[in-house]
Amino acid sequence: MKGYLITELLKGPEQLVLRTDLPPEEPKQGEVQIQVIAAGLNFFDILQIQGKYQWKPPLPFIPGSEFAGVVLRSTVPEYKPGDRVFGSNHSLAQIITASPRQIQPIPKGMTYEQAAAFYITFPTSYAGLVVRGQLQAGEYCLVHAAGGGVGLAAVQIAKALGATVIATAGSAEKLAVAKANGADFIVNYRDKNWTEQVKQITRGHGADVVYDPVGLVEDSTRCIAWNGRIVVIGFAKGTFEKLPTNRILLKNISIVGLHFGAYTQFEPETIQSTWDGLYKLHAEGKLDPVVYPKSYSLETVPQAMNALASRETYGKVIVKVSEESNSTSKL
Ligand SMILES: NC(=O)c1ccc[n+]([C@@H]2O[C@H](COP(=O)([O-])OP(=O)(O)OC[C@H]3O[C@@H](n4cnc5c(N)ncnc54)[C@H](OP(=O)(O)O)[C@@H]3O)[C@@H](O)[C@H]2O)c1
Repeated sequence: MKGYLITELLKGPEQLVLRTDLPPEEPKQGEVQIQVIAAGLNFFDILQIQGKYQWKPPLPFIPGSEFAGVVLRSTVPEYKPGDRVFGSNHSLAQIITASPRQIQPIPKGMTYEQAAAFYITFPTSYAGLVVRGQLQAGEYCLVHAAGGGVGLAAVQIAKALGATVIATAGSAEKLAVAKANGADFIVNYRDKNWTEQVKQITRGHGADVVYDPVGLVEDSTRCIAWNGRIVVIGFAKGTFEKLPTNRILLKNISIVGLHFGAYTQFEPETIQSTWDGLYKLHAEGKLDPVVYPKSYSLETVPQAMNALASRETYGKVIVKVSEESNSTSKL
């Protein structure tokens, strides 16, 4: 089968070499074998092939994480061949394995591409806003990097929950996408006075919840409301902030972190309640994962990763890994 295998850590995506001779992964007892149709790229996939991400899989490993595909073989009662599933394990190879806790059936009406854009991205944003940020209907929610993967999901979720959404991004194109996905107000955070703009939009009240995948905590304290909550999601800017702690005290604010993957270990029940909340919003037609329109294949994964890293893309970058109609013998 075709796929990538990281045997030593790389300097960057350009060093990825597509293999055509990888053996399909064989399911152990308790696992299913899946033909990956589509893979969703995440910023951390790029860090992981370089050994720069907090979770470092042992070498050798298949890179990637989010995927959607079809069950080929199953050793568990929950799934049978032909089931459409989406999940998170490793994704950039045509035939992989996963355990039932790493996958779910694809909800009705979701394409493979949208499902591959959903599995990590939407639960991260839902848990960030609802569980950690305690976002309430009628509050102001400031979403940073609102054109990116988790940011755009946060815009849709915050809007669906009844918040007034203020979206920030660094380009007119991404701001337009955020607006088309439910943002009530848009602000370009490359403007020096962006925090003033947020204060004006909220008529001096400030943002009640700030969703931050970038690393804009200190600046955000300038335009946060009394009792506001800042949810630390990630560090797309590439640096960790050092914050004067008086800023936390002055407006009675909370700064909370989210590490969604760690709920599996520490709080599995929150994963289930997050999915319940998301499936409800999806069934109500309030969530619609955005797939970046340029299509990529396994052959063009380095270009796809570089496009993501250079901030050219919006929504989720999807890699078409195999055709739906392929039989295993062709792979
Ligand atoms: N906590 C968790 O459980 C969890 C789960 C998933 C992801 N994350 C983290 O969330 C962050 C975003 O992930 P993502 O997959 O949504 O990424 P993404 O699709 O690449 O979006 C990141 C956005 O960040 C903005 N950005 C600002 N400064 C940047 C810089 N110097 N380089 C690159 N982008 C920059 C870009 O928007 P503009 O061009 O508009 O500025 C970009 O669209 C990552 O740090 C990731 O590790 C955390």
